[in-house]
Amino acid sequence: MKRISSVLLTICATAAIAVTAAAVTAAPPAPTDDAVTARGAGATMDDDDEDLGPCKHGDFKTQLVKDACAEGGQLAAKQVMKRFVKDAKKKLAVGNVNCNTCHDELAPEYTLKDDGLARFEEWQKRLAAKKAAPAE
Ligand code: HEC
Repeated sequence: MKRISSVLLTICATAAIAVTAAAVTAAPPAPTDDAVTARGAGATMDDDDEDLGPCKHGDFKTQLVKDACAEGGQLAAKQVMKRFVKDAKKKLAVGNVNCNTCHDELAPEYTLKDDGLARFEEWQKRLAAKKAAPAE
């Protein structure tokens, strides 16, 4: 009798593990990217987009911002940044972050904090990994 109950216990435990594993693998697929408008990201932004000129950073470390600046100056950079932050908030557990998480100051210089670039690269890597395996 003792033997049977211990076998049953093992079966139950195995089933419980299987159920847990299934729940983990069955995580909902990452939400599809929705269109983000320039003003739709909900960041703490001033509204003087019309006055923005070319980007201030000379030596770009990220392709994302470099391309945006080349195409549309600071306004375009702001837009990709907003989308990036929104994406990170939605898909990574980064908490309640905003532009000042990485920037000491916003317009017009957008100076970076010491760890601003590292943080950006980390999020970008994690977002790319999510994209590659959405149902991870
Ligand atoms: C995770 C960190 C991070 C967050 C959060 C972040 N930024 Fe950035 N931002 C950067 C980095 C890093 C650069 C410089 C990229 C480079 O050197 O290629 C940058 C550059 C920029 C630039 C270009 C500045 C210039 O003139 O050269 C703008 C504009 C900008 N960010 C706006 C924003 C706005 C607006 C937000 C909030 C919606 C934001 N950033 C949030 C990391 C961040």
